[in-house]
Amino acid sequence: MSMNYTIAIANEKGGVAKTTTAVSLAGALVQMGKRILVVDLDPQSNLTLALGHIPHHKEMTIASVLLNSEKISNAITQTQIENLDLVPSNSELGVAERFLPVRKNYDTILKNSLGGFLDYDYIIFDCPPALGAVTLNALTAANLLIIPTQAEYFSAYALKNMMAAIRQVRSQNNPMMIYRILVTMYDSRIRAHRTLHEQLITTFGKDGLLETIVEIDTKLRESPIIGIPIMHYVSKSRSALQYRALAEELIENVGEMEEKTFA
Ligand SMILES: Nc1ncnc2c1ncn2[C@@H]1O[C@H](COP(=O)(O)OP(=O)(O)O)[C@@H](O)[C@H]1O
Ligand SMILES: [Mg+2]
Repeated sequence: MSMNYTIAIANEKGGVAKTTTAVSLAGALVQMGKRILVVDLDPQSNLTLALGHIPHHKEMTIASVLLNSEKISNAITQTQIENLDLVPSNSELGVAERFLPVRKNYDTILKNSLGGFLDYDYIIFDCPPALGAVTLNALTAANLLIIPTQAEYFSAYALKNMMAAIRQVRSQNNPMMIYRILVTMYDSRIRAHRTLHEQLITTFGKDGLLETIVEIDTKLRESPIIGIPIMHYVSKSRSALQYRALAEELIENVGEMEEKTFA
């Protein structure tokens, strides 16, 4: 596996556990001895806040990277967790969707900002709930796209636009990008969840979905309050176990995933 394996976490729908997955996956990978950089690409700064960092205006953020061509290494800050670093966002990023597209090759700005030496095993991009210029930058910079989705009709239907974005990114600057859908907030007692899970498998194939499913866990709602990932907080909770399983699945399959895209 190459250094700096990049993972974008995106879905145009809000509230599907993108940020939760970014934080929890990062926490799990850190516990497995990996060095992680998480990048907050949402002007709402939920990831920044979840890691206990208060966004403020004078600091370097992902907005400085995307809008002022700052190198990403200059915007990195530490978190309370060793080996887990953060590129924060703040509300300045809000203008990016309007200002980025007027620039030439705007979709490769994030990818190019990663140049130079970044001492991380994984870089995780937490995307905003939109398929605009910022998410396009993340997809262009990503080896792997994880699409968290709830097993309910509307989000499964909404994946149509995601698939169009994937085709666009692959045909332009990132032909090797692979994607996997992650079923989140799953409740096996709900028949509709089981049915939709089956339909997702039928539609996207077994290879289109991650094997790990993240179930409903109310403990997750408490985690962001104290600024650290769930596994550093209630390490035996169901979601902590499941995000650890997800991290293991990724570590085991990353090489294989790359090979499959050649086939
Ligand atoms: N597995 C889960 N079980 C219960 N609640 C969850 C789970 N995953 C996420 N949540 C909660 O759902 C809400 C939306 O999650 P979030 O990660 O902010 O979504 P997004 O980043 O896609 O908008 C948050 O309140 C979060 O705590
Ligand atoms: Mg979010």
